[in-house]
Amino acid sequence: MNNKKQIALVTGASSGIGEAISRELTKRGWLVIGIARSSDKLSQIKNDLHDAFVPMTCDVSDKESIEKTSNQILEMNLCPSLFFLNAGIAGEAVIENPNRFDLKIHEKIMQINYFGVLAWVEFWEKPCQAIGGANFIATSSVNAIFAPPTGSAYSASKAAIAKAFESLSLTYFNTGLRFSVVYPGPVDTAGLKASRKLPFTWTAEKMGRCMIDFALSEKSSCEPFFFYKVITRLLRALPAKYTMKLLGKLQ
Ligand SMILES: NC(=O)c1ccc[n+]([C@@H]2O[C@H](COP(=O)([O-])OP(=O)(O)OC[C@H]3O[C@@H](n4cnc5c(N)ncnc54)[C@H](OP(=O)(O)O)[C@@H]3O)[C@@H](O)[C@H]2O)c1
Repeated sequence: MNNKKQIALVTGASSGIGEAISRELTKRGWLVIGIARSSDKLSQIKNDLHDAFVPMTCDVSDKESIEKTSNQILEMNLCPSLFFLNAGIAGEAVIENPNRFDLKIHEKIMQINYFGVLAWVEFWEKPCQAIGGANFIATSSVNAIFAPPTGSAYSASKAAIAKAFESLSLTYFNTGLRFSVVYPGPVDTAGLKASRKLPFTWTAEKMGRCMIDFALSEKSSCEPFFFYKVITRLLRALPAKYTMKLLGKLQ
């Protein structure tokens, strides 16, 4: 196993936060295995980062695709010790509305944002224990704290993965496997679904640096957006009519 160089695996590496994490990690000397579906976007990043970036196409909503990709990584004699399980969707063109509840939206989002994270953990648990341990980082969201209107599926998926990792961090305490969660507020990426620019929006680069610093620390939870840390709890505590009024002012 090639463990002379520090190896990280980043899902959602083709754009936004995952791309920023990948670029920053390579600057810091890591070898990055970048996972996404868009091979053209991954190839463009490979052109910039050369040997420090190993692009791999994989659909994280498909467990077999994750297993196939992971076996290919092992066959290359690579075993990551840092996993940014960051790929996620917010609902794309699908909009939740009060006219018709659609379970399919929940199924689709959970498949990517929840099972598409945990399937990596299942595969890599034993190989990572064999190399002495690894750190798994989930990209949750401030929407795990406060679930806005039309965001039930997304918010539920982000709360579910955060709670799963919170428990795993205790279950695997002192085993060499660490589980930690980041709760980003708005980050200026293609994945940000907002009608107008939200206050205190971060760039993907700033978010990427913050997540790497956090991942390399001993902490297990990171809520770096102070404004959203406060406002999400307030919005959750208020009666619905005041919550909707306040949301109207913010959006
Ligand atoms: N932007 C924000 O304000 C914000 C706030 C809180 C949390 N987040 C979370 O941050 C993470 C990254 O999002 P982002 O803002 O950087 O959005 P983004 O630019 O849209 O990036 C999403 C990434 O996930 C990948 N992806 C989506 N579905 C996939 C699938 N089925 N299989 C493999 N890869 C898949 C995409 O690659 P391909 O399309 O090439 O597959 C892309 O690389 C997400 O989990 C998101 O929920 C974002």
